[in-house]
Amino acid sequence: MKSISIKLVTIFPLIFSFFTHLSLASPGLRFLIPHNKARAEVGVQPLVWNKTLAAYARGYAHQRLVDCKLQHSEGPFGENLAIGYGGQLSAADAVNMWVVEKQHYDYESNSCVGGECLHYTQVVWRDSTHLGCASVRCYDDWRFIICSYDPPGNYVGERPY
Ligand SMILES: *[C@@H]1O[C@H](CO)[C@@H](O)[C@H](O)[C@H]1NC(C)=O
Repeated sequence: MKSISIKLVTIFPLIFSFFTHLSLASPGLRFLIPHNKARAEVGVQPLVWNKTLAAYARGYAHQRLVDCKLQHSEGPFGENLAIGYGGQLSAADAVNMWVVEKQHYDYESNSCVGGECLHYTQVVWRDSTHLGCASVRCYDDWRFIICSYDPPGNYVGERPY
């Protein structure tokens, strides 16, 4: 009997801390995992989640609540934006919209060919090491997603990797 009660006591805090940890980590992981998958594909080290960047992203996302406008914050960080209607745009959807631009990035000429690719090059930019993102539902039912990168990428004349 004694061993059973000890087990219960030890299991409960374990389960509790597991879920607490998960709920704290998951908002970042939903963005981090697809970023780091795209980076691994071209041999670039993973990004690290950063609370300062996440707070910056959240702050700017809240400024866009009223219009959900696809407009950059003009801040000190690298920045990718995405919007979607009806609250349907998930973190994975947004990162995917940026990563599919990979088909337009021509490594030889280090330029975009046949379409946009600068969202993609920011995702895989080697010198960017930290990531913070936010997702908000705007008043008009659109969803606004922002990811901030530090140091920023997309320096003209430099290669992403
Ligand atoms: C998070 O990013 C900010 C802004 O770039 C930086 O000053 C800070 O050192 C970073 N925090 C960690 C833990 O790396």
